[in-house]
Amino acid sequence: MGVRVEPWALRYFGVAFASYLAALAAMAAGLTYPSAGLLAPTTLAAVHLVTVGWLTLLMLGALHQFVPVITGRRLASDRSPAATLLLVAGGLILMVAGFLALPGGPWPALPAGGELLLPLGGSAVVAGAAVALANLGRTLGRARPLSLPARYVASALGFLALTVLLGLTFALAMTWPGLLPAGMAGPLLGAGLPLHLLAGVGGWFTLTAMGVALKLLAMFTLAPEDRGKTGQGIWAVTAGGMALAWLAGLAGVFAPGSPAGVLARAGWGLTGTGVALYLVDIRRLFGQRRRRGLEVNARFGAWALGCLGLTLLACAWALLRGREPGSWALAVFLALFGWLSGLGLSQLYKIVPFLTWIERYGKRMGRERVPRVQDLVQERRARPWFQGYFGAVALAAAALAIPSPALFRAAAALMLLAAAGVGRELLASRRCPRASPGHGARDGPAGARDAVAGPRGS
Ligand code: HEM
Repeated sequence: MGVRVEPWALRYFGVAFASYLAALAAMAAGLTYPSAGLLAPTTLAAVHLVTVGWLTLLMLGALHQFVPVITGRRLASDRSPAATLLLVAGGLILMVAGFLALPGGPWPALPAGGELLLPLGGSAVVAGAAVALANLGRTLGRARPLSLPARYVASALGFLALTVLLGLTFALAMTWPGLLPAGMAGPLLGAGLPLHLLAGVGGWFTLTAMGVALKLLAMFTLAPEDRGKTGQGIWAVTAGGMALAWLAGLAGVFAPGSPAGVLARAGWGLTGTGVALYLVDIRRLFGQRRRRGLEVNARFGAWALGCLGLTLLACAWALLRGREPGSWALAVFLALFGWLSGLGLSQLYKIVPFLTWIERYGKRMGRERVPRVQDLVQERRARPWFQGYFGAVALAAAALAIPSPALFRAAAALMLLAAAGVGRELLASRRCPRASPGHGARDGPAGARDAVAGPRGS
């Protein structure tokens, strides 16, 4: 069958998970917003552990495995996943140290050169992202016309480039204020942050997650993947709306009060409409599925999609309240921890055993009795961890809305506990059981042929 598992994917997931636990520990310890300021050095360090360490590495690891699946092509380069992981993980360590060394942070007295850590780390992350973009972009480029999930991924990759380049520009402007042309650094540092956020959380993470969720949920619930012209239209409205909001927002940074503001609001409106229609379509997809019972990954994937709906409402509320940072913090929290991390944890719960199964039993499939993927996990034991995770996210969101820093810390501690519980279940799934007579499968898991069949050309 030409089984291919991307050997670096699981290493990406390991580093990503460790970054997530570190960030949750910092939140539970009260080192971040709302106990500290929104732009406090410790908050910025934790935010980037989540955004670069957890979500970016999680998504890049998943994309190196799934872009060959959604394009039917081999990766353009088999060596670049390792380079990307080393550059992004190494760069992240420097970035975190650089944030902690900012004025007001816990390490302001680092030896001379400490101020270089942030731009150096940011440059390494940009380099790692560039390697991934070249590899994944070339692979996608060979598979035109692109399928719907591939379109989501291609547009998301464009936003990844914008996010990391803008982040690096901030870091350079903070380190050497005279470096950028006069009149550029001030407005960018003053009003450019929403653009970094929109490109990262909206464009890069949300578009990737929308495309990958479409593919995975259809594959594992045996639902039709082809979403027809409606699906293509939803993608165009969402991605086009984000591009319009971003470009008009950039124009507005340098010419405030211009018509750019109206265009930016139109872009936000289109994005919101696209996401709402996507949720309606995914609901239809669940209704069309042939596998009636929902496994843990699909059930809690649906909870994460519910959090995407709540994020949409929180964004609308924040837009109505103008530039009030607290209301945006709630929307970003729901997006990062409910929608994206919730989806990440629930899909890892399928992907890790699935890849483990392929590694260990893929070649024996059809020749002898092997365990089923479901034999590698114990759903009954895992379910309370997921319920606890989403419950803790709801509690933390309420704590942000009140706001109550003490309640937020307690909720973050519960999130940490629940995420660690899910991590333990993932590790347990790596310790495979032997195939027991009469309790195995000859043909492997549903979707296995689709997910691992060797690319049909390169
Ligand atoms: C996927 C990649 C990234 C995402 C999603 C992301 C996300 C974010 C978010 C959400 C914030 C706001 C934090 C807060 O309000 O507490 C932020 C701020 C910031 N980010 Fe990133 N970031 C990314 C990559 C980078 C990179 C590579 C750098 C380079 C050093 C960087 C540098 C910064 C800086 C300097 C700030 C603070 C800006 C200011 O104070 O105005 N980011 N980022």
